[in-house]
Amino acid sequence: MKIERFRWLIALMTLLALTAAACASDDDGDAEVEESADEASAAVDDVEASADEAMEDAEEAASSGDLGLLEEGQLLVGSDIAFEPFESIVDGEPVGFDIDLMDEIASRIGVEVEYQNTPFDTIFTQLAGGSFDAIISAITITDERDETIDFSDPYFAANQGLATLEGSEITGVGDLTADTTIAVQSGTTGADYALENFADSSIQEFPTSVDAFAALASESVDAVFIDLPVVGGQVEAGTAVLAEEVNTDELYGIGVGEGNTGLATAINEALAGIIEDGTYAEIYGTWFEGDVPEQFAS
Ligand code: ARG
Repeated sequence: MKIERFRWLIALMTLLALTAAACASDDDGDAEVEESADEASAAVDDVEASADEAMEDAEEAASSGDLGLLEEGQLLVGSDIAFEPFESIVDGEPVGFDIDLMDEIASRIGVEVEYQNTPFDTIFTQLAGGSFDAIISAITITDERDETIDFSDPYFAANQGLATLEGSEITGVGDLTADTTIAVQSGTTGADYALENFADSSIQEFPTSVDAFAALASESVDAVFIDLPVVGGQVEAGTAVLAEEVNTDELYGIGVGEGNTGLATAINEALAGIIEDGTYAEIYGTWFEGDVPEQFAS
């Protein structure tokens, strides 16, 4: 659309230049006429040159500027990098399913990705306030969050899980009592669910999933209620057992600033390609066992 607008501009400027040339040839005196004609054709050249530049700028805008990035060519991504296996820090570097996926998306969009570790419970206000271009953090798409930021298409499906220590008396949500203390991560859907549905028990909020599981390990809480794949990681590590899976049917999305459709579209296109060509399955296989859910299979 922008390029079309420039075409009109070029046509108009060319017309003006030609009119100048025509006026010039009305002057008397051959030398003068020639001189003005030369000037006029030089003016036409100038117009053409700046028109070319304008076209190039427009094309560039269409391919990158429209992403509305804080810094051209770079995608600054906020994440609470303490949510294994989606994001964690290993040897000072972010790793995980989300990181592999975001790296691949950035590379397909043609931008350098830069991660910034940030607390989960302020991640949405920070994105809305312009601190990041995007956020990836195993973030469940919810209507409430959608009011202040925009989401990409879903890239992962998850439920919640109640985790306990091996040998715990709590073998499911039915065993939760007024004496039970449940750890959750602040600002998460799991925290909201627990506060609403396990209201009889005491809910203790922790800044990160790592803190919540540390509290379980030290037995200062009886259970952790958190995204099921995160419980899965702990089960695999032998640090917790799954007492019960709770169906919450959550879908994760990548957040972008409200109204940044350029970036959202670019992310969605890259994501579709990643699912389509089997790259999603490859990344999934690195971090999870079992088949890729049908929704994300090519
Ligand atoms: N899916 C949950 C939510 O959106 C938990 C996400 C927590 N992610 C994280 N990296 N700490 O609320």
